[in-house]
Amino acid sequence: MPEPVRLAILASGSGSNAVSILKHFQASTDVDVAFLGCNRPPDKAGIYDRTKPFGMETEYFSKADLNDGRLLNTLRERGIHWVALAGFLARIPEDFVRAFAGRMLNIHPSLLPKFGGRGMYGMNVHKAVIAAGESESGMTVHWVTEEYDQGAVVFQAACEVREGDTPETLADRVLELEHTYYPRTIAACIATTAS
Ligand code: GRF
Repeated sequence: MPEPVRLAILASGSGSNAVSILKHFQASTDVDVAFLGCNRPPDKAGIYDRTKPFGMETEYFSKADLNDGRLLNTLRERGIHWVALAGFLARIPEDFVRAFAGRMLNIHPSLLPKFGGRGMYGMNVHKAVIAAGESESGMTVHWVTEEYDQGAVVFQAACEVREGDTPETLADRVLELEHTYYPRTIAACIATTAS
């Protein structure tokens, strides 16, 4: 039996995608969520509490840890093979992107390339979609590159934008798609990439 692929999840906020990924791989023998990291302290991010039931400790790392290579070293020491950004709001430095080229995914709450790039995160995205009068929105899973939301698209799922939608109601509809499809997309990418 080959060793399970070791997956790290990096988050910045509530961690609902991290929970969906943990649930998806909970019984997996192929993939082991081996690291949970957050660049915000426990009093500023819900992921620490939400992931406790999975027996996982979320580890805080600073912007300096990310940019000075300390986080990359930690992931190497932990034997991490893949990285899933899940509600992660900082730019990934070049050496980190190179280290995980073809093995690092991100989820974005719009149908990229629309409504992506600097400043397009969280409610800003949904506000812009509604203000633009779009009839549909959705989620995108893409490979991570040095630029925000520029990597090649791996998977997209769409939903309608309804009359009277607020950014919050649209966010909820998109988040449901994220929770359903991000874990499956990660699993499919890992399964189809030679280890
Ligand atoms: C999600 O909409 C995700 O697309 C974006 O951050 C939001 C919050 O995600 N990247 P989470 O609840 O922290 O997983």
